[in-house]
Amino acid sequence: MTKRKENKQHRSGVSVDPSQRVEALRAQIEEHNYRYHVLDDPAISDSRYDGLVRELESLEAEHPELVTPNSPTQRVGAAPLDGFQSVEHQVPMLSLNNAFSPREVGEFDRRCREGTGRESISYVAEPKIDGLAISLTYEHGGLIRAATRGDGRTGEDVTLNVRSISSIPLRLRSDRVPPSLEVRGEVFMPVPGFDRLNQQQKARNEKLYVNPRNAAAGSLRQLDPQICAQRPLSFFCYAVGVWQGSPAPDSQMRILGELREFGFPINPLAREVHGLSACLEYYDHVMALRASLDYEIDGVVYKVSSVEDQQALGAVSRAPRWAMAHKFPAEEETTVVKAIEIQVGRTGALTPVARLDPVFVGGVTVSNATLHNAEEIERLDVRKGDTVVIRRAGDVIPEVVSVVLDKRPRGTRRFKFPKACPVCGSGVTSDEGGVIQRCEGGLVCSAQLKESIKHFSSRLAMDIEGLGAKLVEQLVDSGRVKTPADLFALSASEFADLERMGEKSADNLMDALEKSRATTLPRFLFALGIPQVGEATAQTLAEHFGTLEALQEASLESLETVADVGPVVADEIRRFFDQSHNRKVIASLRERGVSWPEITVRTESNGGFAGKTVVITGTLPSLSRDEARQWLIAQGAKVTGSVSSRTDFLVSGADPGSKYDKAVDLGIRILEEHEMQAIADQAPD
Ligand code: IVH
Repeated sequence: MTKRKENKQHRSGVSVDPSQRVEALRAQIEEHNYRYHVLDDPAISDSRYDGLVRELESLEAEHPELVTPNSPTQRVGAAPLDGFQSVEHQVPMLSLNNAFSPREVGEFDRRCREGTGRESISYVAEPKIDGLAISLTYEHGGLIRAATRGDGRTGEDVTLNVRSISSIPLRLRSDRVPPSLEVRGEVFMPVPGFDRLNQQQKARNEKLYVNPRNAAAGSLRQLDPQICAQRPLSFFCYAVGVWQGSPAPDSQMRILGELREFGFPINPLAREVHGLSACLEYYDHVMALRASLDYEIDGVVYKVSSVEDQQALGAVSRAPRWAMAHKFPAEEETTVVKAIEIQVGRTGALTPVARLDPVFVGGVTVSNATLHNAEEIERLDVRKGDTVVIRRAGDVIPEVVSVVLDKRPRGTRRFKFPKACPVCGSGVTSDEGGVIQRCEGGLVCSAQLKESIKHFSSRLAMDIEGLGAKLVEQLVDSGRVKTPADLFALSASEFADLERMGEKSADNLMDALEKSRATTLPRFLFALGIPQVGEATAQTLAEHFGTLEALQEASLESLETVADVGPVVADEIRRFFDQSHNRKVIASLRERGVSWPEITVRTESNGGFAGKTVVITGTLPSLSRDEARQWLIAQGAKVTGSVSSRTDFLVSGADPGSKYDKAVDLGIRILEEHEMQAIADQAPD
């Protein structure tokens, strides 16, 4: 049967009137859109949804007279425009006053209370989306026009573009929709979509967008609706401009409830909050969520919920007195680069850093920003004296985003990346990708040595309390400490000689060193600062090998059998232990009393015992029961005390007892000691 006939004779040959089927399909598609975009609770798979759209498309192709402008098939398809018409807003689109501090929000709350005579005010609070405001007009439930905010009185008609945004309903779904409705909201580009768009732009050698907001604005201003249709735009609705022909709800919260019923996506973080302190709590709550949202926000908005109170408060100079934006500290600011310096890290990596005129950004004062590496400096062409855009988002280290070329002073020079280590003069090599420049000096380089000692004594490593950065620097600069092991040979009087060290603190430090001598293998491994070996890897390695000796001798192959250790990490570990210098330092650390308790090995091996449950019974010919148990655990087995249906092997010696009988009953494989090695050498099943 062809698709068309199928359409005509929908389901088991019952003939259906095409206009009814078309309407039914539209209703279904719209319902699924609503579930997807508004309720965030899709009921069918994408492919079933696409199937419905395709069926509607083919029916409409067969019956062009049934096509309506607001059919779900008509979201794209219009021809390019020459320009945008201007549209006068029926009700002006206001902007918002900004508050940057709790005090300013407090003043806003006070004005609202005084203006309404209420003791306390209920507000609707929602995130302030970083997109662009849009006005959508519906007549009898159908979208007839979409316009940008423009200057607030007159905007541009962007209907054809807006129709392609799938979260904007073309037809509204409730029987309470007023005959004439104009709603407002924010069109925005989610960050993952923005990143993908910029990747595509880059691949096509086209201009990159600076941020999601510009990308959203640029997309809506495309004259060709086909282009806008490919842009990942989304929408949240937050207000009503016109509600005519039926009584409007009496509060902002109820308005949002109704808009959601009509089919508009409402921000799921919108809340009713009572009074000033709840507003401020909401602000903190949303700020904490900010980094996890997939769209950009630049603050929160508080709106007096009661419509009557809104009217009583009115508006002054194009901003309502009943609403306020409470802005987050800006994440980007401009400042001037005073110098570009190279920092040498613990593993020798040379990181260029911009020293800045201090600037308040992302909630803190920033005076240094990373320039990452030589390639990045090259790409940005940052120079001493340049005005740059600094970004500090969340707790991420501040970085230089771009250079404001218009403000570049005369006579600046390109930054030359050094060919030798600026601290010790050793040569510089680039890593495989050529991205990371490294000083070859190792611990001869005082910068690497200082960073290594700081790392060695840090809390999650050897945890030497009181040995701060300043002390480490003095110890290295005075030549007293050339390796981490030297720390344990220092005397209290040597400490007391240092600047800002009294006898008391010198004694405390000696105690701290004494305490840290008793450590654990994972901490010790982490403290060594093997490249690529963080805290978690150190833990896994310790559990896998059980002893430092076993790890030191491990081949690349056996290192790679450890969970999370790939060829790169395995190579770093091998290289580290192959250097005689490192072995010497380890030996003298142990001579000077650094020790740790033995640990039980828990191995994930690749052999036939990996993940198997094994029981031991009877007396084995050569191994003690405990030795056999240790050995099996090292092979990745779990050794338990009693036989059950979950047992994989029974290792049995002389005079086995009831475990043997039970294993025979359950059909469990029984091994003798001499068969164990053969199983361990097998690949796991
Ligand atoms: S309410 C009269 N709510 O912020 C109230 N605006 O600075 C009108 N914006 O032009 C706006 N998220 O583009 C409101 N949840 C939100 C918002 C929001 C973003 C934008 C909107 C407006 C601008 C004012």
